[in-house]
Amino acid sequence: MDAYLRIEDALEASLQPVCESCPPRLAQALRHAVFAGGSRFRPRLCLAVAEACGDAHPQLAIAAATAIELLHCASLIYDDLPCFDDAAIRRGKPAVHAAFGEELAILAGNALIVRAFELVSELVTSAPLHTGLVLASLARGVGAPHGITAGQAWESEPRIDLRAYHRAKTGALFEAAVVAGAIAGGGDARGWRGLGDHLGEAYQVADDLRDATGQSDMLGKPVGQDAVHRRPSAVDQLGPGGAVNRMQDLINAVIRLIPRCPGRETLVFLVSNWAQSLMPAMPVSRPAMVASAS
Ligand code: IPE
Ligand code: IPE
Ligand code: MG
Ligand code: MG
Repeated sequence: MDAYLRIEDALEASLQPVCESCPPRLAQALRHAVFAGGSRFRPRLCLAVAEACGDAHPQLAIAAATAIELLHCASLIYDDLPCFDDAAIRRGKPAVHAAFGEELAILAGNALIVRAFELVSELVTSAPLHTGLVLASLARGVGAPHGITAGQAWESEPRIDLRAYHRAKTGALFEAAVVAGAIAGGGDARGWRGLGDHLGEAYQVADDLRDATGQSDMLGKPVGQDAVHRRPSAVDQLGPGGAVNRMQDLINAVIRLIPRCPGRETLVFLVSNWAQSLMPAMPVSRPAMVASAS
């Protein structure tokens, strides 16, 4: 089955036991948060790495991929709250707090995070060591000091290092997706961190470019938010051309950083395509070197 469909099925199955007996409006908020049409980029990356490494524990790979997407959806709920980015639209639909209120949005985010860890932990008896390592990689990706929690917390500091901010708020979950995929696939997780981290950073630079140059109806979320909230962004610090240049450097590094593994060739092809698809479609003032390289 196609990876995208496998992920949709697994997400559906992961929420079913939660939604069938929890308070109905919380169940609706959970489904709204998860099934609003996301890119599923992180879980697809996790599955692709697991496959490239040999797919030693396929059940663990799909559980990890599902957990990563649940954690990502929770992070989007919180990111849109009035106390963070105050965004009313996400994935082309009302943000969870706009549709269900802040109380249920916070509770839905909590429920998704807990469900993500519960889902993976259910495999502990069949593959105890690998499951433990996957859980640790997820915790690193969403907690502090490395993960999304720390990344969002940088926004409350008077001085922010752009790369540290991007790597924690976005790179860390990509790193978790790659590392969890490698562990579930039977690879040596240590060699994989750099790939996830660099790809995540490129992803956030692309998001900064879209925020500055994209259109809300195309993106399904508000644009111009980095300027409105005075967030440090790659566009603000490097200019649009410099941000594109930075992305290209990161993408080149991503390809170099893919470790040796049985399915390396296929993974290089996939990741190159994904990475290049992040390049902005909007005309931005791109430096000649980058424009001619693409
Ligand atoms: C949005 O991520 C948040 C960022 C880190 C830029 P995505 O662009 O992957 O969002 P969805 O999942 O497709 O909605
Ligand atoms: C990424 O940052 C958000 C998370 C880590 C959840 P942004 O605030 O720039 O992402 P968007 O633009 O709202 O998707
Ligand atoms: Mg934000
Ligand atoms: Mg935001």
